[in-house]
Amino acid sequence: MPSRDEALALLHEWVDNQNLRKHMLSVEAAVRRYAREAGEDEELWGLAGLLHDLDWEKHPEEHPLRAVEALRERGYPEEVVHAILAHRSEFTGVEPESPLDRTLVACDEITGLITATALVRPNGIDDLKPKSVKKKMRDSAFAAGVDRESVRTSGEMIGLDLDQHIANVIAAMREIGDELGLRKG
Ligand SMILES: [Fe+2]
Ligand SMILES: [Fe+2]
Repeated sequence: MPSRDEALALLHEWVDNQNLRKHMLSVEAAVRRYAREAGEDEELWGLAGLLHDLDWEKHPEEHPLRAVEALRERGYPEEVVHAILAHRSEFTGVEPESPLDRTLVACDEITGLITATALVRPNGIDDLKPKSVKKKMRDSAFAAGVDRESVRTSGEMIGLDLDQHIANVIAAMREIGDELGLRKG
């Protein structure tokens, strides 16, 4: 299985946009945290999180098929490939099935809403509460690119209450808050 360093090098090769890089790092952190909690393979789950939007910048109209092709060529595990296909099931027809598939879907849009909310808070992500994120969820003009339906159903996707899921993802992102530029002061 390719290492995290190799995956990160691949990400840097394909993705120039800093916000997209941060999004992929955020999803990686969240998915890794869930893997750890569930006693799953954190390295494998992490690769799916880190690389799920690999081709979004270069080939948005084919996303994620070009990424999947590149990952298969490089010997990435089929579990990683399946999760990446399933995070865009409406395009690929591959439905989320495994715990990894479902966790990736659950963590994708929510990281965007958490990022946008943290950016307008005085203390960034440090004291960010699920309540604030949910308030912004209901404000459809705020971070309008974030798919609200996907956010609303993200908790149940992995059998969690939405508040608990948001708290978990905030905690995961806070661990890399400096790298994400979400820490103020
Ligand atoms: Fe995507
Ligand atoms: Fe994504």
